[in-house]
Amino acid sequence: MKIVEQIKQPISYEMDLFEQKFQLAMSSKVALLNRVTHYLVNRKGKQMRPMFVFLVAKMVNNGELSERTYRGASVIELIHTASLVHDDVVDDSNRRRGFFSINALWKNKIAVLVGDYLLSKGMLMCIDNNDFDLLKIISVAVREIVEGELLQLDKARKLDITEAVYYEIIRQKTATLIAACCSLGAASVKPNSNEVETMRKFGELIGMAFQIKDDLFDYGQEKIGKPTGIDIKEQKMTLPLIFVLNKCTSKEKSWLINSIKNHNKDKKRVNEVIAFVKDNGGLEYAVSKMKAFRSEAMTILEEHPDSDYKNSLKLMVDYVIDRKK
Ligand code: IPE
Ligand code: IPE
Ligand code: MG
Ligand code: MG
Repeated sequence: MKIVEQIKQPISYEMDLFEQKFQLAMSSKVALLNRVTHYLVNRKGKQMRPMFVFLVAKMVNNGELSERTYRGASVIELIHTASLVHDDVVDDSNRRRGFFSINALWKNKIAVLVGDYLLSKGMLMCIDNNDFDLLKIISVAVREIVEGELLQLDKARKLDITEAVYYEIIRQKTATLIAACCSLGAASVKPNSNEVETMRKFGELIGMAFQIKDDLFDYGQEKIGKPTGIDIKEQKMTLPLIFVLNKCTSKEKSWLINSIKNHNKDKKRVNEVIAFVKDNGGLEYAVSKMKAFRSEAMTILEEHPDSDYKNSLKLMVDYVIDRKK
């Protein structure tokens, strides 16, 4: 059996129902919006975030979940989708999930508004059902995504990023939303338990590993459904490059910084930078850090009694670092 099917086995009923509810949550009376959201639902992603929501909820509550869990999963996937639609505008990226991005097909103006629409639909879904505790978890994540994206843009302009700031960026722009999945999963069934915080921490650690993996993809040639090699073009310095910048000579450092600052749209030069990072152990270093976050997350899981759900979460943790897209 494929690993994803194995992970989904204890939540297959929930994931099927989720898809129906999610589709409904996206719909609109406005014809143009409906066309775009229809395009989005037909190009679904890995749906890892709802999987985290359901698996955590079931693990902490003996396999029982509630309508709140379904709503939480839909809201998170709505917010995630909105963040991708906006992110492709910010990163000027024309591919997503193996197809054209929304901005590539409908241009930036429409992409910005569609992202806002999805965000508001998510918020309203919580409000209409009085899930204010879940809304709080989600709103914190939304604020942090925006702060993380802006910190990243600021560092891309100044090219003065450190390893510590890199971790802060990925914690905010990516890890917080996965942290929200896990804390919300727990909160949807056990609102006042310690699990809400424990699972938040678990999700945050996984989220860190998740984004390091995503940044490693950018150094590869694999077909992952979105462009690779665009980080340097966008002057985005990620962990492999930061590591190499810290250990090379000052002459090499000047060459690297000059390449990123002034030759970032020159394909040949960008490829030379990528090769330099690879030759100097940048990828290995990032992989080692990714694995350290993975181990820390596993330690938290080990404190829970064994169950099918815990088992799936363990597989999920490994999937985050072994995935092919
Ligand atoms: C992409 O997330 C955005 C990042 C945080 C790197 P996913 O890789 O989970 O995207 P989909 O939903 O599967 O397309
Ligand atoms: C992902 O940012 C985080 C958000 C969507 C906020 P990236 O720009 O690194 O992700 P991809 O590679 O485009 O999916
Ligand atoms: Mg981005
Ligand atoms: Mg991007």
